[in-house]
Amino acid sequence: MNADPINLDSWRDLPAAQQPDWPDPSALEAVVAELQGLPPLVFAGECDELKDRLAAVARGEAFVLQGGDCAETFAGATADNVRNKLKTLLQMAIVLTYAGRVPVVKIGRVAGQFAKPRSKPTETRGGVELPAYRGDMVNGFDFTPESRRPDPGRLLRAYHSSAVTLNLARAFTKGGYADLRQVHAWNQDFVAESPAGRRYEQLAREIDQALAFMHACRADPEEFHTVEFYSSHEALILDYDRALTRVDSRTGLPYDVSAHMVWIGERTRQLDGAHVEFFSRIRNPIGVKLGPSTTPEDALALIERLNPANEPGRLTFIARMGASRVRDALPPLVEKVQANGAQIAWICDPMHGNTFEAPSGHKTRRLDDVLDEVAGFFEVHHALGTHPGGIHIEFTGDDVTECVGGGHPIVEEDLALRYETACDPRLNRGQSLDLAFRVAELYRSS
Ligand code: PEP
Ligand code: CO
Repeated sequence: MNADPINLDSWRDLPAAQQPDWPDPSALEAVVAELQGLPPLVFAGECDELKDRLAAVARGEAFVLQGGDCAETFAGATADNVRNKLKTLLQMAIVLTYAGRVPVVKIGRVAGQFAKPRSKPTETRGGVELPAYRGDMVNGFDFTPESRRPDPGRLLRAYHSSAVTLNLARAFTKGGYADLRQVHAWNQDFVAESPAGRRYEQLAREIDQALAFMHACRADPEEFHTVEFYSSHEALILDYDRALTRVDSRTGLPYDVSAHMVWIGERTRQLDGAHVEFFSRIRNPIGVKLGPSTTPEDALALIERLNPANEPGRLTFIARMGASRVRDALPPLVEKVQANGAQIAWICDPMHGNTFEAPSGHKTRRLDDVLDEVAGFFEVHHALGTHPGGIHIEFTGDDVTECVGGGHPIVEEDLALRYETACDPRLNRGQSLDLAFRVAELYRSS
C-alpha cells in the first residue's frame, strides 16, 4: 500500500467491481478532465461538520435519518419532486426528534445517487440481451441498444443534476420552508387523514403542546426555522468520485466534494478492492453497507482500513440484514466491534434485505418487514447496551405504489398503479410517515 495519504489514484491498480464498460475510453478521459475543473458541490468544512454530527451518533447522543430514492433520475430533478422528498424527511425527523429526545441528523440519498450496482451485467427481454441499466449516471433506462450503451457524457449530467438538486435542497432547508411549526402542521394533517392516524394522535398532540409551550416562553431559536441537511450517495463509479475529489486548501486533506457523505455498497466492499482503497484516502464521513454474510473479522478489517485512527463520526456501518436475519446476524458484529473499542455509528437499512418479487413481477417490499427489521435492530442494540444510531431508507414524497402495506394499505394488486422507481421499490409518503411514528413507538416502549 502506498503510504502517501494524498495518492488518490492507488485504487486504479486494484479490481474495481461494478464499473461500466465505457465503449470509448478517450470520451471518458475528456469528461473526467472537465469534471476535474468544475466547482465543488459541497465544502470540506461542511463534510467535517457532518462528521461531528455523526460522532455524536457514535457516542449515542444523536440519531440519523438517511433516505431518498434508490436511484435518482435526471428527469426527477424537479422542484416538486425535491420539495416533496424533503418535506417528508423533515416530517419524519420531527417525530423522531421528539420521541428519541436526541437531535436527528438529516441526510438525503439525494444530489448524486445516480449509479446502481447490478446483480447481472446484462438484462434479457424477449430473447434480446442488452447491458443492464446502471443508473442515469451511466446509461438510459429504456430497453434499447442506444439507451443502454454507457455514455460518459452522463457523468457530467449527473454533476449538473446534483448541483440543481442541492441548490433546491439548500433553498428549501434554509429559506423558511423547513419551519418547525409548519412541518408539525403537515404532520397533524397526516394524522387527521390517515386511517392509522388515531394511533399517532397522542404523540402529535404532545408535540403540539411542546411547541405551544416554547412559543409561550417566546423561545424562537434559529433552529426552529432552518435545518441542517446533508447529501449522500453510493460512490460507485470511481472515475466520477475521483474526478470530484479536491485537496482542501485549509487542511491539505482530500475530500470527495460531490457529496457530504459517501458510502460503499454491499457489492463493492471487498477489502482488497478499489472502492475500499479509494475511500481510505478521502476524509469525508463514510458509510459501508453490511449484509448478512459479513463476518466480525470483515467488520474489524474494514475498520482497520477505513478508520485506523478510530476517529468518531468517520465511519458508519449501515446494516441491511433482512427482517428474518437481523436478530442473529447483527449481534456478533456489534459485539466484536464494541469489544474492540471501535467508535462506530450503527444505522439500519431495513430495505435491501427485504425485497421480493410479487406475482405481477414487480420488485417490492412489505412495510411490516421493514418495521420488523428496525424493531430487531433496536432489540439487538438494547440487549448489547449499544446505540441504535439511525435508519437508512428508500422513500419518495409522492403517493407511489411500490411497497405493500401501510395505513392506506397498498396490496400486491395495486403495485402497477403507480410503480415509478428506476430501481428498488420505495416507501411512499404515507408509508414513510407510518414508519417514523412506529419507530417513535419503539423508542417509547424501550
Ligand atoms: C442501495 O442502497 O440501493 C443498494 C444497492 O444497497 P446495497 O449495497 O446494500 O445492496
Ligand atoms: Co436500492
